[in-house]
Amino acid sequence: MYVAAIDQGTTSSRCMVFDSAGTVVGDARREFAQLFPRPGWVEHDPAEIWASVQACVAEALDRAGLVPGDLAAAGITNQRETTVVWDARTGEPVHNAIVWQDTRTDRLCKELAGEDGPERFAASCGLPLATYFAGPKLLWLLREVPGLRARAERGEVLFGTVDSWLIWNLTGRHVTDVTNASRTMLMDLKTLDWDPATLEAFGIPEAVLPEIRSSAEVYGTGRGVLEGVPIASALGDQQAALFGQCCFAPGDAKNTYGTGSFLLLNTGERPVASQHGLLTTVGYRIGDAPAVYALEGSVAITGALVQWLRDNLGVISSSAEIEELAGSVEDNGGCYFVPAFSGLFAPYWRSDARGAIVGLTRFVHKGHLARAVLEATAWQTREIVDAMNRDSGYALTELKTDGGMVVNDLLMQIQADVLGVPVVRPRINETTALGAAYAAGLATGVWHGEAELAAQWKADRRWTPDMPEDKREREYAQWLKAVTRTFDWTD
Ligand code: G3P
Repeated sequence: MYVAAIDQGTTSSRCMVFDSAGTVVGDARREFAQLFPRPGWVEHDPAEIWASVQACVAEALDRAGLVPGDLAAAGITNQRETTVVWDARTGEPVHNAIVWQDTRTDRLCKELAGEDGPERFAASCGLPLATYFAGPKLLWLLREVPGLRARAERGEVLFGTVDSWLIWNLTGRHVTDVTNASRTMLMDLKTLDWDPATLEAFGIPEAVLPEIRSSAEVYGTGRGVLEGVPIASALGDQQAALFGQCCFAPGDAKNTYGTGSFLLLNTGERPVASQHGLLTTVGYRIGDAPAVYALEGSVAITGALVQWLRDNLGVISSSAEIEELAGSVEDNGGCYFVPAFSGLFAPYWRSDARGAIVGLTRFVHKGHLARAVLEATAWQTREIVDAMNRDSGYALTELKTDGGMVVNDLLMQIQADVLGVPVVRPRINETTALGAAYAAGLATGVWHGEAELAAQWKADRRWTPDMPEDKREREYAQWLKAVTRTFDWTD
């Protein structure tokens, strides 16, 4: 039995086909255009996203030597928060998708915060008002696209995050799952339904919103490239990685290191409100089972800093080279690099911050700089873990890692050193797609429960901390001081 997972990410779409042992039997990826119409604006063409997904599905099936009829189910995982609005009759998008990184709603968020401040809706949705989330992006479209509000009120257009856009194209159903809905600011975390008070405050007509469903159930039957295949899961990509890493117990956590990094901690069947700048979000909901919640620390720039060192400074010519360069020195030589390129996400949520390199002396050379770049990922993760330990009452004892950067063994050692707990890399690093496949397979009887999935999880390598505690804490204090140097650079 085979299950396909569509992983629609920020820079590429991918389809992976798994067999029932969780082994990849077919895989295809397509990049698509990143559109930057103005400084701070980031858009995608929804039609191009859909075309890239169809191409990947066809190619992955072809590589596996399979046809749609061989699939027991297909699941979807996606870049979160990215916002699409389309015509309910023709399927024509009314505007490009507004991507999660886009900051055009900055003023709108301040307006919504009013005198109550950025936490105005946090009791309901678990999120602070920030440009990151989908609700303000939808409101921007309703205000700025001529005639859109009237069409929305007449039910002529539909809103969705990318999961909804793909499911609608695949099945004709207008649905989303609880994890994606929990990134809009519009869903009440406790009722798992749209919050009427928030909709009223935002001025969003309910007619545009999809129905909120669980993360693992059959939403409809596929058409076209997935003709006849049950479309049986949807999870935001970070939640899918949590599920694919088998973080099923309260206290289990994973960190995915990509362009940015997203650390999610399973907090069980209750949402934990953060007092320390983290997001409360839905981790997953499998069919009729109770929802499982998570605390999330979102860091905007980690792997992107390595790319910046490569593309903007030319210090390295490939991302992989950073490991050798950073390994050529014993430590950072006193230098710290805070990559607040587009403000700081968790735990600060400061759109006024900008990047800084501090602690420079003539002693510092490019080896130290490369080391500081890797450490920036590790220190930012340390800040998230500290906040999580304080918010949740769990003390993290081990961190499961995945994503593009985890091939860097030196980074994994640095991460264990600055956290003071072991770091473990799984044998299957494609945990995001695997999580979506697992959820779709649970919904259709390919797998029968979490224990069966957990038995498939195998460690590839484990790193244990190897840094004296006094050194760790001294350097951490320096890092925290460096972060404060990035504040107040814009209004
Ligand atoms: O919240 C944004 C996140 O879902 C993006 O993930 O992997 O597409 O960069 P990715």
